[in-house]
Amino acid sequence: MEKADGGRLMVKIAPSILSADIGDLDRVVAALDRGQADVVHIDVMDGHFVPNLSFGIPVIEALAKRTKLPLDVHLMVDNPASLLDDYVRAGANWISVHWEAASHLHRLLNGIRNHSVRAGLALNPATPIDVVRDCVETLDFVLLMSVNPGFSGQSFIPQSLSRAERLRELLAELDAGEIEIQMDGGIGASNIGQIAAVGVDICVSGSGVFGQADPAEAIRNLRSLAEARE
Ligand code: DX5
Ligand code: ZN
Repeated sequence: MEKADGGRLMVKIAPSILSADIGDLDRVVAALDRGQADVVHIDVMDGHFVPNLSFGIPVIEALAKRTKLPLDVHLMVDNPASLLDDYVRAGANWISVHWEAASHLHRLLNGIRNHSVRAGLALNPATPIDVVRDCVETLDFVLLMSVNPGFSGQSFIPQSLSRAERLRELLAELDAGEIEIQMDGGIGASNIGQIAAVGVDICVSGSGVFGQADPAEAIRNLRSLAEARE
């Protein structure tokens, strides 16, 4: 993991294209490049696990053709195992699956890693973080939802901060400090400093980037606020 000046960990900024105009992917990718995003967060929704529908494999393929940034696919679907190979073939570099949606999690997370894709476990705001205890050996990152999944533009749930702190402690206790913590939902300029301060490594932001007048500038601003950690 990279270290920022003073030995602090660098925070990764993961803009979510859910809030972007995906009718103009070239422009979306240009903003990600100009803003020096670390990864692209892609929210796949099926209308069952979450009420909303978004996009799927064709959009992942289209992004893979346009950018070398890692593609971080967040599966908000009822049966995440069913199309796993297709997401990988489309170009996913990271895949997160919801604990609440996966009945054979051990097999699924190992399956993701067997494709040389980073495996993430996503937890809804009311899911106990302790479930991570029995998955650490199959994980690269944990995605803590800081809103109820399904829509961009919702308000950040304040308890998410203490959940991140408790997860950081749990990972240290399990000697799994290399597992990254990602947080997703309601993150923007007003709170990213606090989120980085409690040990979150990867901050997802949808409307905090693509809802702003200049998305590239918004990414740069989020990064400097995260690094200031206040
Ligand atoms: C919500 C999605 C998020 C969403 C975040 O279910 O998982 O990734 O795009 O949007 P904001 O940052 O606007 O809350
Ligand atoms: Zn997401």
